[in-house]
Amino acid sequence: MKYYVIIVAAGSGKRMNSATPKQFLLLDSRPVLMHTINAFYHSDVHPDILVVLNEQYLDFWAGLCSQHNFTVPHKTIKGGTQRFDSVKNALTEIDEGTSIIGVHDAVRPLISNDLIKRSFKEAEKKGNAVPGIPSSNSLRQLTEDGSVALNRSRIFEIQTPQVFESGLLKRAYNQQYSDKFTDDASVVEKIGSKINIISGEPYNIKITYPDDVKIAKLLLKP
Ligand code: C5P
Repeated sequence: MKYYVIIVAAGSGKRMNSATPKQFLLLDSRPVLMHTINAFYHSDVHPDILVVLNEQYLDFWAGLCSQHNFTVPHKTIKGGTQRFDSVKNALTEIDEGTSIIGVHDAVRPLISNDLIKRSFKEAEKKGNAVPGIPSSNSLRQLTEDGSVALNRSRIFEIQTPQVFESGLLKRAYNQQYSDKFTDDASVVEKIGSKINIISGEPYNIKITYPDDVKIAKLLLKP
């Protein structure tokens, strides 16, 4: 079986309040994105690596790679306005024929080999695999006149990599964009497929706010 990972890194990181998008910030003296690419490169799955970048950052990234002597093989692809467009652009670069495709947020650099392996193997067996972790906090939903408690044992926080059989993912990304698409599972679900949740990892954090970089530095293994 052929394996691919699409690493989406074309976001501008508006919530970070930083001139540099979060995927390029330094974590242990290397850009976040290099940690993420390395995790897949050194994993037991050995996927072909496609990295989606904002057009304005293609030269910047090439400069970072030479500055850090980063030679891990990967193909760069121009991103789009939404994450949806970025994934869609990458899918056009993947050959016809059955393969297993993972989509991973560039800003989740602490992904483990174990989760990469489990998600790809499970998707190969069942058609898709999406990691999730139960919430440790109590949860409430806003209502017209206040809020109501939710049953947290039935609610998962969803992570990436989200992994799919190639035909399914390509069919899903042929749909019209909707602002309800926040990840790949929501896109695939819209064409009628059931999502298969597997166990995610608490350390697989998404660097979103400035403090998340500090947390990632602490969690990074020596
Ligand atoms: O915006 P959000 O935090 O949900 O982004 C998740 C991932 O999607 C990030 O790694 C970001 O770089 C990527 N992204 C993208 N293209 C966009 C928007 C986000 O590749 N247009």
